[in-house]
Amino acid sequence: MSLSFYSIHRFAVCLSRSRKASSPSLGVVSSSRSLLSTSSFSSPSPAIPQTPRVSVLLQPRPRPAPFLAANRCRQDSSSPASRLASTARTMSTATSQVVTATAGQRLAGKTILITGASAGIGQACALEFALAQPHDLRLILAARRVDTIREIAAAITKQVGDGVKILPLQLDVSKPDEVRTFVDKLPEEFKNIDVLINNAGGVRGVETAGNIAEADINVMFDTNVTGLINVTQAVLPIFFARPDGGAGDIVNIGSIAGREPYAGGSIYCATKAAVRSFTDSLRRETINTKIRVMEVDPGATETEFSVVRFRGDKAKADATYAGMEPLTAQDIAEVIVFNVTRRQNVVVADSLIFPTVQAGTGPANMYRKTA
Ligand SMILES: NC(=O)c1ccc[n+]([C@@H]2O[C@H](COP(=O)([O-])OP(=O)(O)OC[C@H]3O[C@@H](n4cnc5c(N)ncnc54)[C@H](OP(=O)(O)O)[C@@H]3O)[C@@H](O)[C@H]2O)c1
Repeated sequence: MSLSFYSIHRFAVCLSRSRKASSPSLGVVSSSRSLLSTSSFSSPSPAIPQTPRVSVLLQPRPRPAPFLAANRCRQDSSSPASRLASTARTMSTATSQVVTATAGQRLAGKTILITGASAGIGQACALEFALAQPHDLRLILAARRVDTIREIAAAITKQVGDGVKILPLQLDVSKPDEVRTFVDKLPEEFKNIDVLINNAGGVRGVETAGNIAEADINVMFDTNVTGLINVTQAVLPIFFARPDGGAGDIVNIGSIAGREPYAGGSIYCATKAAVRSFTDSLRRETINTKIRVMEVDPGATETEFSVVRFRGDKAKADATYAGMEPLTAQDIAEVIVFNVTRRQNVVVADSLIFPTVQAGTGPANMYRKTA
């Protein structure tokens, strides 16, 4: 069946409120439900500042609106959904062109774990993988906001059908106890993980050294570094148990920040540099196996990322992208799916992705149109 059969959709983002804690929860989603209402959340982690966050709606994906000089996100502010609809890119044609039938076949029967799947790049990956192999795939979608994950799972099921089995999983990667035990708690049909997308992460603040809150330092390292390493270590035994020394794919989401540190980002940059070192070491440690270790480093990508950085200040977050067209989460997801669906003997070890107006970090490496 042609992938273009599936209608064009996008995940639009709308403002939400606080997040609510809920007990660890597992439950395979197989039915769809309306996403036209938003959920409320409270932070499940005391280490995470309480910031206005966003939840997701599944909306038809319109053609991209022409880029205007000002940040295109602000062209229509009548409602969060319509505002973000104006930033949407196409999906159906993109998917059928980007993911070939062969690539989709390479995903058949696989189980994919995506951390940080409740928003942004992780959420886009979930949809992109599902569209690439809508007939025979299992997705474990993990994040702290499990209610949001359930909504995303239901929306994907509604879009692609029952061929993609989805397990919403509440998992705070910054909590070693949770990470240590989650694999054992997985239902049997989801235990045999083939692909790990280590995506959960983020940034807090723009303070410079000497003025950085200890809590911000801790949450960034605990999530971006220790969390990523712990999840990897939890999943690796599954990979090592396979023949020929082991098999499986790991995609670590780094950042241009891990390659080019910038003022006001010292801790975030340090965490992403650590991801880069860990990734490169792991690739060297597994060359005698069929385990593929890949890193994907996005440049400026419009997600919840900057809203979290500015502690919920949407105006400041929007200013990050003023006068330029950032990448979308889907842009990154397409690259991730492409990398994972190469022939077994091919490792796309390192991907650096910019919008066309970016060439590095800092103002000198970002071209912005002025009004
Ligand atoms: N956007 C960019 O410009 C950009 C550029 C380079 C790299 N990146 C990287 O891309 C990755 C995804 O970011 P994004 O842009 O998609 O940001 P986002 O929209 O803020 O999404 C971050 C995701 O990570 C999850 N997360 C955060 N802390 C977590 C924790 N302790 N445990 C489990 N999940 C957690 C969040 O879910 P919950 O809040 O529900 O837990 C959310 O699903 C991050 O590693 C980020 O550093 C982003």
